[in-house]
Amino acid sequence: RTFDTITGGHYGGGGGRMFCISVVGLSGTEKEKGCLGVGKSCLCNRFIRPQADEYNRDHISILSQPDFSGPIVNNEHWLYWGETRKCTDEGFELTFSVVEQTEFVDDACFQPFRSGKTMEPYHKRCAALRLNSAEKLMYICKNQLGIEKEYEQHYLPDGKFNVDGFICVFDVSQIQGRSIERQIELTALILNSLLKTKKPVVLATTKNDEYSERYVREAEKLVNRREFKGLIPLVETSAHDNINIDMAFWACVQRDWTKGKTKILSYHEAFQRQ
Ligand code: GTP
Ligand code: MG
Repeated sequence: RTFDTITGGHYGGGGGRMFCISVVGLSGTEKEKGCLGVGKSCLCNRFIRPQADEYNRDHISILSQPDFSGPIVNNEHWLYWGETRKCTDEGFELTFSVVEQTEFVDDACFQPFRSGKTMEPYHKRCAALRLNSAEKLMYICKNQLGIEKEYEQHYLPDGKFNVDGFICVFDVSQIQGRSIERQIELTALILNSLLKTKKPVVLATTKNDEYSERYVREAEKLVNRREFKGLIPLVETSAHDNINIDMAFWACVQRDWTKGKTKILSYHEAFQRQ
C-alpha cells in the first residue's frame, strides 16, 4: 500500500484523496440468503469503526415501516456508513467513504420494501454508480433507529455518493437455508454487472473464522472463471476477528495488484501475523 500504486478516487472536500466504496453481495429475504446475511454490514462496521467496543455483530435487516422511512434508511435499500481516514506505508492520508447495498425486508409481510416505481433486481441495482439521497443520516448501529438524536449525527455530504470501486462479499461459512450453488450463481450475476461499470471490483470472502473448505475453493474458482480471470482480486476476511478488512479496501484502490506489488495475505497468513 504505497502511495504511487494507488489509483482512482477523486479529491474530496478537505482537498485530500477520497475513495467512495460500495459494499455489495447476496441480499434479500430468507429465501435468497438463508437464515443469516453474508456479512456486508459487519465488514463495513469493522472498517469504519474498528475498535472492539464499536463493533456490533447484529445489524438492521428486517424493519418496520417507520424505520424504513426514517432518516437512516430514507426509503432506500442502501446504508451510508460514513468516512474513515487511513494511512499508506509512507504516511499519506486517504479518506474512504462507504455505503452498503442491501435489501430491507418488511417485518409485517416479510417481503422486500418497495422503493421506486420499478424495482430492479438486486444484481443490477447494486452496480449503481451515482447515489442520491437528501438528508441521509449515517448508520452506526441497530439501536440508533428511532433515537437518532442520541448518537453522533452525520449526513451524507451533499446528499450524493459517486462510487469509485466495489467490494463484493462472498460468505465462506455454511448457513442454514442457503445453497452454495445459489450463492455462486447470484454472486456471478453481481460480479458481471459490477465489471460493466469499469470500476475496480474486489471479491472479499467473509467469515473465514468459520470457513468451509469447499466454499473457500468455490470462491477461488469463481474469480478464476474465464470472464473474471485476472480482473478481480480475492481477499479472505473475517470481520469478527478483524482479519484483512483494511486489505479488502486497499485492494480496491491499488493499481497493479496482479503484478504482485501489493501482496494480499491469505486469511491464515494474516491471522498468524496479527
Ligand atoms: P443483510 O444486509 O441483511 O443482507 O446482511 P449482511 O450481508 O449485512 O450481513 P451481516 O453483516 O448483518 O451479518 C450476518 C450475520 O453473519 C450476523 O449474524 C453476523 O454476526 C455474522 N457475521 C458477519 N461477519 C462475520 C464474521 O466475520 N465471522 C462470523 N463467524 N460471522 C460473521
Ligand atoms: Mg447488512
